[in-house]
Amino acid sequence: MKTALLAALCFLTAGAGSAEEDGQALYNRKCSTCHQRNGEGIPHFYPALSGDAFLLGAEDDDVIKLIFKGRDGMPAWATFLKDDEIAKILTYARDSWGNAAPAISKDQVAALRKTVPGWSQVPVGN
Ligand code: HEC
Repeated sequence: MKTALLAALCFLTAGAGSAEEDGQALYNRKCSTCHQRNGEGIPHFYPALSGDAFLLGAEDDDVIKLIFKGRDGMPAWATFLKDDEIAKILTYARDSWGNAAPAISKDQVAALRKTVPGWSQVPVGN
């Protein structure tokens, strides 16, 4: 019984996102429902991130802002993802599926978060 409870607890904790979760794991958990694990998206519904001109070519700050704010059918993540999580996800997406754009740092995300009061609420993570 105790073992089962412990196992359930471990499972729940893992599901809630552990400190060691890397960019790929975070992306798969938060973004892949729409953009798919292979970054191909779903034509006419969710844009592909593989080869995406905005993800790869826009100013870093504009890419980070999009994650904070969301856009049309894309949810806003400001209060659901921590600075390092956003940095890891974007760095992963910019360097996967044939993409090759520079990493985004936690400091860049943190600096931008400070510019909008609504974004400064400390994310609880989920
Ligand atoms: C519920 C579905 C959904 C989820 C989850 C989602 N997105 Fe999106 N995303 C969209 C949609 C829809 C758009 C297009 C919005 C538009 O039409 O302007 C988009 C647009 C984007 C774009 C810009 C593409 C472009 O060329 O303009 C990026 C980059 C992006 N998403 C990254 C992410 C990342 C990173 C995550 C995870 C943190 C994520 N998305 C989670 C639905 C989603």
